[in-house]
Amino acid sequence: MNPLADRALRDKSVDTLSEAEAEAELAALAAEIAHHDRLYYQEDSPAISDADYDALRRRNAAIEERFPALIRADSPSKKVGAAPAEGFAKVRHRRPMLSLANAFDEADLREFVAGIRRFLKELRDDPDQPLEVVAEPKIDGLSVSLRYEDGRLVQGATRGDGTTGEDVTANLRNVGDVPKAVKGVPAVLEVRGEVYMTRSDFAAFNDRQRAEGLKVFANPRNAAAGSLRQLDPRITAMRPLRFFAYSWGELSEPVAATHYEFLGRLQDWGFPVNPLLARCRDVGGMIAFQREIAGKRPSLGYDIDGIVFKVDRIDWQERLGAVSRAPRWAIALKFPPEQAETRLNRIRIQVGRTGALTPVAELEAVTVGGVVVSRATLHNEDEIVRKDVREGDTVVVQRAGDVIPQVVRVVQDKRPDSAQPFRFPDHCPECGSLAVREEGEAVRRCTGGLICPAQAVERIRHFVSRDAFDIEGLGERHVAAFWQDGLIRSPADLFRLAAHAEALRSREGWGAKSVDNLLAAIEVRQSIALDRFIYALGIRQVGQATARLLARVYGTYDNWRQAMIAAADEQSDAYRELTNIDGIGPAVAADIARFFAEPHNREVLDDLGHLLEITPYEAPAARDSPIAGKTVVFTGTLESMTRSEAKARAEALGAKVAGSVSRKTDLLVVGADAGSKAAKAAELGVTTITEAEWRDLVSSG
Ligand code: IVH
Repeated sequence: MNPLADRALRDKSVDTLSEAEAEAELAALAAEIAHHDRLYYQEDSPAISDADYDALRRRNAAIEERFPALIRADSPSKKVGAAPAEGFAKVRHRRPMLSLANAFDEADLREFVAGIRRFLKELRDDPDQPLEVVAEPKIDGLSVSLRYEDGRLVQGATRGDGTTGEDVTANLRNVGDVPKAVKGVPAVLEVRGEVYMTRSDFAAFNDRQRAEGLKVFANPRNAAAGSLRQLDPRITAMRPLRFFAYSWGELSEPVAATHYEFLGRLQDWGFPVNPLLARCRDVGGMIAFQREIAGKRPSLGYDIDGIVFKVDRIDWQERLGAVSRAPRWAIALKFPPEQAETRLNRIRIQVGRTGALTPVAELEAVTVGGVVVSRATLHNEDEIVRKDVREGDTVVVQRAGDVIPQVVRVVQDKRPDSAQPFRFPDHCPECGSLAVREEGEAVRRCTGGLICPAQAVERIRHFVSRDAFDIEGLGERHVAAFWQDGLIRSPADLFRLAAHAEALRSREGWGAKSVDNLLAAIEVRQSIALDRFIYALGIRQVGQATARLLARVYGTYDNWRQAMIAAADEQSDAYRELTNIDGIGPAVAADIARFFAEPHNREVLDDLGHLLEITPYEAPAARDSPIAGKTVVFTGTLESMTRSEAKARAEALGAKVAGSVSRKTDLLVVGADAGSKAAKAAELGVTTITEAEWRDLVSSG
């Protein structure tokens, strides 16, 4: 179209356009918008401002509204969504988005079922009472939560860390499978499910990307994740994303008594639900379903990485609750890992955050289950001896889900004559310090402590990792480089980086914007929750669950710190209190004490204490409970629930559960045949209640 005529037309009010003019202008707009899309997305060089671009789209929409019959097949309004966003806002999930514990074989499934039967009293006491489980494929995509208010899609979020995700509402609106409005649903309905890409869509999409010189993805899952997390929803709109619904978040009213029924409701409301599902009555049925699906796996058209089993009764699900981040009522049975053969070029020794020397196989790159693998773990010294792995060998490697690929075995008849047995070093390859292996330990460790760069760098890397301080934009490479240059020698230095802003900006690969983003990300984390803080310290054996436990028991940073220093003395009350926490034994206590005994660690802690605001632990969803913050002890046999269920319930309501009665006990719950604890409680004046009173107390909470 002639640009002059085009401009003249564009000045005309939409109301006065003739049909012929409208048709001509829609054609011109389609071409023009497509041209700007290309410049913007693919060449990263937009020729017009966002405002001008939006004006084009608005005009297109206005003409289409007046002449709906003229809407073109390639209309920009069909392909694209809202305007580019600045970044993603954070969304706090009303109910956490949990992950799943894994099972790898039939024995794991048996243990899963047996554990549930032990937990729920009516199942424990009556082996004939059936436990029905729904089985469904585990879709290999990424999970999202869709929030509907009065039937309208108002928010869509990624899982994020399970507590807080990213607001990708505009992007999810552009996923065809996601209903934008639904009828007959509760006023508040949160539907959770998996966004994925089919294999054929993925192949075609990657071909297009390759042809245009754009990023090619390793597998459909990565492509789906990359597509959903686009800052510009118009890009998402052009990617072939799909959705399966399988779970819920907040609901203003219950919608079903069983999971199976819930999936039926979802389907009635118009959500896509995976048709391959079954109700199983026992482990035999579960295994049979897994075999059936494993057989169909190659022809499904999309990737699945296992089968998810969920307790069907929702009231049971609620009672079973969750441990750490996974529900007790569900489990994922993973398919056996995929394997491939390749050459092992070299064995490299990596030094971990705790000084452990880990052998890593450097491989000739090979594709395993859709992913290119060039490194695999060899675990430890003994493993190399046991498998007799040598440099130059041909080996079988396997990959299961997101875990690090492993070397399974050596293909003996392909061994070159020159291959020599591997000699494990007795000195740290990073700092040259002696590396020792203690009696009964599988691991050899560097003794260099904080003079060893690998340990310092690893500690900082752990410190900033997602479940710890979660500082975006500070990858492993950056940490190592900053350490090398003396910018960050301890975690506390992170919070002094702002003083080096100029120096940072002049570093290779760092622009003003990326430095500003990094400093902003660090500043946000200057206030941190106690449990994350404890986890971030990287104390041996103190993972996320233990960190959370400690935070819950000690409440504030000062409390915790003082108690841990005092607990170094095994005769102290502090030590007794620490080891009395259910889940913390003498071995963990010893590692914590060792951490605090090291003067350097205490210096770092003091330094951090001054720089940070460490916020007290806030028990989730337990603020109003009558037992929040209380220490509860159970004794005797409980009639209506198992000890595990009672303990889980108490913890969910914000209480701490201790194993024995002391002056710190707030409440003793006495079941049948209680022994010495009741007497001790009476002596100390601790409040004692019966099981029935306990039930009233927690059901009102
Ligand atoms: S249920 C509390 N069902 O697996 C229950 N998850 O490892 C939470 N997934 O984050 C999830 N297919 O991304 C469930 N049919 C299915 C699933 C499924 C795939 C993913 C989901 C979740 C992860 C957990």
